[in-house]
Amino acid sequence: MKVTVVGAGNVGATCADVLAHKEIANEIILLDIKEGFAEGKALDMWQTAPINLYDSRTIGSTNDYAKTAGSDVVVITSGLPRKPGMSRDDLIATNAGIVKTVTDNIMKHSPDAILIVVSNPLDVMTYCAYLNANVDSKRVFGMAGILDTARYRAFLASELNVSPKDIQAVLMGGHGDTMVPLPRYTTVGGIPVTELIDEEKLDAIIERTKFGGGEIVKLLGTSAWYAPGAAAAQMVEAVVRDQKRVFPVCTMLNGEYGMKNIYLGVPVILGKNGIEKVIELQLNDSEKAMLNESAEAVRGVMAVLDNMNINA
Ligand code: NAI
Ligand code: 2OP
Repeated sequence: MKVTVVGAGNVGATCADVLAHKEIANEIILLDIKEGFAEGKALDMWQTAPINLYDSRTIGSTNDYAKTAGSDVVVITSGLPRKPGMSRDDLIATNAGIVKTVTDNIMKHSPDAILIVVSNPLDVMTYCAYLNANVDSKRVFGMAGILDTARYRAFLASELNVSPKDIQAVLMGGHGDTMVPLPRYTTVGGIPVTELIDEEKLDAIIERTKFGGGEIVKLLGTSAWYAPGAAAAQMVEAVVRDQKRVFPVCTMLNGEYGMKNIYLGVPVILGKNGIEKVIELQLNDSEKAMLNESAEAVRGVMAVLDNMNINA
């Protein structure tokens, strides 16, 4: 299996490192536009192989897409991250051009690849990659839900003093402050979370989750990378190993949840074909209202992209 990660910055390098450590692919290409940057990081990673005892080969490339040829899966992390005071949507002007160019180049050399987008604003950058890739939407999707859900699960694990392994949860909607956590679908070792935590504390955790990305931007001056990189690698693993994992993923809706032609986070089954199935939950009225509000926010950013007239 060959996996390419475009963007050797914080998220891309972390993702490649996790892929290598877990031997998810035997060949991992790391590509960046900055001269020597991807080569340097890939070489450093390869030198951890004898220490950590893995075989996956990491190879760097400065914008040479020939090296990515025949990739089975491509993760797109290229683009600007947020700085304090910026929203994810502020990034669109720069990142849409980058995602378009990268997608065009990738598809030229790996026409059968599955694309996993990470660049922000996530839902709309995934839509941008889809418009330019010109393939079935099952093969183009975005990473956000696993990260947002992981934040929620980590906060709950701290609050309840339990292992994060035992917390299962679903978050839906766009990757932004309007994301939709679903306490009804949150369990701790099979026990509904509402039996273990009072409403006020759960509401506070949900609010913290919605702004979880911004919390890290304030602390670090740039956005998170360990959890995002690991989340993207987990999606690659589900595809490469045809695991049929159930994850919240940013995917194209074709009538599910009463929506069409929009990329939004919903639970799916992820396997070798990409999105094997969109799972349609029976949402109650308030959950539906939150999902619709989140979709409206995403549509607003989609309109900005459409007005840029850059897509194929
Ligand atoms: P970073 O600045 O550390 O890395 C980005 C890399 O992209 C840089 O090395 C840069 O040289 C490279 N790049 C820029 N233009 C390129 C091009 N045309 N071709 C190839 N490489 C190019 O940023 P970081 O922290 O890795 O974040 C990357 C993106 O991921 C940002 O847009 C960020 O907002 C987003 N992100 C999304 C998350 C999600 O949940 N979906 C979570 C965390 C970050
Ligand atoms: C995050 O949620 C900024 O999207 C990035 O960390």
